[in-house]
Amino acid sequence: MLNTDAHWLPFTPNRSFHQDPRIFVAAEGMHFTTHDGRQVLDGISSLWCVGAGHKRREINEAIKQQLDTLDYSTAFSASNDKAAETAQRIAELAPGDLNKVLFCTSGSEAVDTAMKLALAHHRARGEGHRNVFIGRERGYHGVGFGGMSVGGIPGNRKVFGTAMLPRVDHLRFIHDPLNHAYYNGVEPVWQEDLLLELENRIIPLHDASNIAAVIVEPVAGSAGWYVPPQGYLKRLREICDKHNILLIFDEVITGFGRLGVPFGADYFGVVPDMLTFAKCVTNGVIPMGGVICRSALYENLMLAHANSPAHAIEFAHGYTYSGHPVACAAAIATLNVYRDEQLFARAAEMGKMLGDAMHSALTGLPHVSSIRTLGLAGAVELASPVGQAGKRAYDVFIDCFHRGVMVRNAGDNVVLAPAYVVTKAQIERMVGTLAEAIRRVR
Ligand SMILES: Cc1ncc(COP(=O)(O)O)c(C=O)c1O
Repeated sequence: MLNTDAHWLPFTPNRSFHQDPRIFVAAEGMHFTTHDGRQVLDGISSLWCVGAGHKRREINEAIKQQLDTLDYSTAFSASNDKAAETAQRIAELAPGDLNKVLFCTSGSEAVDTAMKLALAHHRARGEGHRNVFIGRERGYHGVGFGGMSVGGIPGNRKVFGTAMLPRVDHLRFIHDPLNHAYYNGVEPVWQEDLLLELENRIIPLHDASNIAAVIVEPVAGSAGWYVPPQGYLKRLREICDKHNILLIFDEVITGFGRLGVPFGADYFGVVPDMLTFAKCVTNGVIPMGGVICRSALYENLMLAHANSPAHAIEFAHGYTYSGHPVACAAAIATLNVYRDEQLFARAAEMGKMLGDAMHSALTGLPHVSSIRTLGLAGAVELASPVGQAGKRAYDVFIDCFHRGVMVRNAGDNVVLAPAYVVTKAQIERMVGTLAEAIRRVR
């Protein structure tokens, strides 16, 4: 029997976990092997990370080769060849003039990096008073103090009180349970203009001249896959432009193919000023995150230092493992796999299949109050018993796991987000198992 006593798991009900541990000891393709020898189908590409499926030979070979060539080198005041190549590849993949890449090792760090860069940018332009950030209700931007403050998932915030950043406001959430509870592969069309609140209340309240940036996920992922109304992100871009407010897309989940194109920015046709990424970039194999910035942000900071001495650092920020050569080797190999196997296009194709399967199998089942699918991901929402928010979704997750399918519970939602290599039969199995679990849940 495996001893899990010393292990304190993140974002996990630990008391329950240790009574019934879920431990993986191997993975291949779409499946895990558990410590007790069972096969489990990975319905969530391991927290949205493993786009190309598990244990890809090309990626593992690149890592081994890198370890035998340059294992690690300092990230400050020197770099490595793989970091430069990875930055170039990512910049080429990103839309518009998103051309400068800052590396870190997680989504939380990417968000904090983007927020700090927003402050540095405005200060360099002589507008250091721009220090208000605007996030969105139920947004998830990681667990750093910055990301937590602009984030809007109540359970992630309630314990941390005054440690939250001051001068943060939040846009309204983007869900309409009455008129748009169900949508499949499209953005819901709202009659109401959700962003009037930004223009008429939030911006005047803080004064536009004090606002540094708005940060949103193009599709709210961790909250449970909520898609913004049609035209929302374009209008958000226009409002930000009008007031010189930076727009940050947190694409930790939507980046690198989830919507069938490289980024959410491509899908929605909107170029932000900064775009954060962290999942799928290395196929989950080695941690890596980053921020892709518009050229103008970089040039602005360099210009502000035009008269500084040559040894002056323009942006005092970074991490020891920024651009780690082994992570970068994994990223290059991953991007090659995505390109050579056209996996983003496959994500789009399989996404349609997943969306259709979820809507046809889950609509009308007990407790189901909403089904939302876009790209290769979908969520089914289950009305909770009074005073027990999230219980049914959790019970469904456990039931599915025992029947060999890994799904993700997020509040009252159960989410599917498989790897891009998923097959039709695997989608049917995931959705079928989920439907059975929903039928059983009390
Ligand atoms: C949109 C978004 N931002 C940030 C993060 C935080 O990433 P990490 O857990 O790597 O810090 C996540 C994680 O799921 C995320 O979905």
